[in-house]
Amino acid sequence: MPHTPDRHAIRGSYVTFCANPFTTPDALVLEEDGLIIMEHGRITQCGPYATLSPLLGDNTPLTHYPDCLISAGFIDAHVHYPQISAIASWGEQLLPWLEQYIFPTEAEFADVDVARRTARLFLSELLRNGTTTAAVYCTVHPQSVDAFFEESARLGTRMIAGKVLMDRNCPPNLQDTAQSGYDQSAALIARWHGRDRQLYAVTPRFAITSTPEQLELAGTLFQHTPGLYMQTHLAENLDEIAAVRSLFPNRSSYLDVYAKAGLDGPRAIFGHAIHMAEHDFAHCHHSGCTLAHCPTSNLFLGSGAFALFDALKPTRPVHVALGTDVGAGTSLSLLATMGEAYKVSLMAGDTRLSAAQALWLATAGAARALHLHDHIGLIAPGMEADLCVMDPAATPLMAQRSARCTSLAERLFTLMVLGDDRAIRATWANGRLVHARAETQADTAAHTG
Ligand code: GUN
Ligand code: ZN
Repeated sequence: MPHTPDRHAIRGSYVTFCANPFTTPDALVLEEDGLIIMEHGRITQCGPYATLSPLLGDNTPLTHYPDCLISAGFIDAHVHYPQISAIASWGEQLLPWLEQYIFPTEAEFADVDVARRTARLFLSELLRNGTTTAAVYCTVHPQSVDAFFEESARLGTRMIAGKVLMDRNCPPNLQDTAQSGYDQSAALIARWHGRDRQLYAVTPRFAITSTPEQLELAGTLFQHTPGLYMQTHLAENLDEIAAVRSLFPNRSSYLDVYAKAGLDGPRAIFGHAIHMAEHDFAHCHHSGCTLAHCPTSNLFLGSGAFALFDALKPTRPVHVALGTDVGAGTSLSLLATMGEAYKVSLMAGDTRLSAAQALWLATAGAARALHLHDHIGLIAPGMEADLCVMDPAATPLMAQRSARCTSLAERLFTLMVLGDDRAIRATWANGRLVHARAETQADTAAHTG
């Protein structure tokens, strides 16, 4: 076979889905000794190594990951890149936390060098954690969006991001106006939406910091550009909800504030949605909205426990994906976030999140929730080649625990309860290696032993 540049193959155990594990048992599929062949950024073939290895010929570079578990790259449905500098800020719930820590941090992004440096660090941290797609809040400054997409385009990652819109109830140096926010967003959409793998999200921060006029204009943008996303925060904290009620006395609920402005529907992503009534979930179901469940953030800010299995009620399921929500979230690791989602599922009700369901929420389910399931979220021919290579024995403790695992579910559960960036051996995006963990003692022993 002639050598094709940009063709590469990976050998190892991999997991993917043949169905939704919330509705179908045995939806998680394991290929114990698998081969994934990638060309020009896509998976062209995958399956058992024994069957597919003749396709490799002499000229396809092959990387072998023995003793690892390969998954589609993780998807983070809600995160703020400028806030990585303010992660772990002590002592406050949502509204004072924003005033005291977040607004001053975001004000630093008036300086494009801060934006470029932070975007570079943030994206390299995502890749160190196995995350290859995220829905990302920038700041109110348009250059914060340019800096982010420039770095993502350089790396070849598929990202969704947008300029935050805020025209009231925030410091003057972070305010736009309804019109300037609209104009700046429109220019960014023209520059970035659909360029390479980059996608734009209209991003009104939340109802408290936007006038009705700004929400209306955001809705106009969202409804009139095909494939555009919308992201905002919804029903996260009781003081926030009370403030929204007094700012919008004529709306029937927090969600109704957004719905009346045209900010609902497919590709609308609402962060948190903790304090929801049945009619809110029903509205999300009928209009096709997505909820981003951010368990580490909800615990850190004392916001409450997202009712995952209420949201997913089989008679009117709502799309749900996981978000890290850094800087309120305490980790960029989707593995750690899956582990916290398990704990919060026990706090919120009596249904337990399984390891397969948690992985679904971080991969194929998230892709479906974001209407990207034709592109990412599965290991299958035709999908974009975004992969995350997990090491179940990344630390001595994980090695000890994993050695006792007798099923795939148990191995995955160990990874999500004990794992974080240390458990990500490598990350591939668009068919290219974009992160390789420095060798551990265990790796060295495997090579020399
Ligand atoms: N609500 C409005 N802005 C924010 C934010 O930056 N983080 C969180 N967690 N909630 C918000
Ligand atoms: Zn957030």
